[in-house]
Amino acid sequence: MAVQISPSILSADFARLADEAARVAGVADWLHVDVMDNHFVPNLTLGLPVVEALLKAVSTPVDCHLMIEDPDRWAVGYAEAGAKSVTIHAEAAKAPVRTLRAIRKEGARAGFALNPATAVDAYEDLLPEIDMLLLMTVEPGFGGQPFLDGVLPKIRRARQLVSKHGLEVWIQVDGGVADETIERCAEAGADVFVAGNAVYGRDDPAEAVRALRALAEGA
Ligand code: DX5
Ligand code: ZN
Repeated sequence: MAVQISPSILSADFARLADEAARVAGVADWLHVDVMDNHFVPNLTLGLPVVEALLKAVSTPVDCHLMIEDPDRWAVGYAEAGAKSVTIHAEAAKAPVRTLRAIRKEGARAGFALNPATAVDAYEDLLPEIDMLLLMTVEPGFGGQPFLDGVLPKIRRARQLVSKHGLEVWIQVDGGVADETIERCAEAGADVFVAGNAVYGRDDPAEAVRALRALAEGA
């Protein structure tokens, strides 16, 4: 399991997205883009036109986290646009198998996200369709929220299920991941770490990425 860091541009300056992306280029593994529709979550961020523009302007692979209703309709568009990873939410998808397959067919990695209150066991049979399981460690919608320690047993459980089936599903954590919490996530079995405030809230985002990676690798 290689540690990967995915800085979330939700905490970056939206007026200067390409510049903000450049600050972690060559250091971050991914750029995490939070798409929110003000329906699935009570916040509104950006959509496909902005992602298309961003994709032309950045070198780091883009990891789109869709916090939207009806991802079955919209997800494939993000893969077609060139996002290398597209994640849909279990609570919003009505046909997750079809949508995950459509994402893969476009050459992107298919991600499947669970809110803190959504159990992972119900999705065991779906694991072969998934490249990355995203376990939310806050309620989705906003950056800068405190990490929910109650999700740690689910990270352990997810890692057990992935191993049991001999799969290579990545386990991503998102929400409140910072210097103080990343080691707990890594010990529990996460290998992809989203960090918003812990990267873009710092004077030197690249150094923050390096520090997070070192902590996760040492856990
Ligand atoms: C929250 C988003 C996160 C957010 C994390 O719903 O999915 O990606 O940017 O921000 P931090 O790391 O500040 O909790
Ligand atoms: Zn996110």
